[in-house]
Amino acid sequence: MAFYEWQDSFSVGVKEMDEQHKKLIAILNHLHDAMKAGKAAKEIGLIVDEMIDYTKFHFGAEEKLMAAKNYIGLASQKGEHAAFVKKAQEFQKDINSGKLSVSIDVLNFLKDWLTNHILIIDMKYSGKL
Ligand SMILES: [Fe+2]
Repeated sequence: MAFYEWQDSFSVGVKEMDEQHKKLIAILNHLHDAMKAGKAAKEIGLIVDEMIDYTKFHFGAEEKLMAAKNYIGLASQKGEHAAFVKKAQEFQKDINSGKLSVSIDVLNFLKDWLTNHILIIDMKYSGKL
């Protein structure tokens, strides 16, 4: 069983966004598997890089879609996105410098963050985009 399984209840009603959320979940599962398998720090660092790059891409796509639909919550979503990217980049720096290693606590933090992003934050635009 995967560390984090997509569920139908995660759907925000926009296919493109659902696909991107699925991809984020897949990267998180990849990170979990690499940690479990005791992969080298370098390889773990590359997955963290991929996760952050893809998160930025996803946020950009989400903001573009919201702007195109004149979504009222765009400013607050942008704020949430920027705050997470900042935190994620600090985390990336600590991982790549060896100051922090990916642990189950880190994975659970990412899982909780992703769940909150999809089910609480993004669900607000469901039916409005
Ligand atoms: Fe999202």
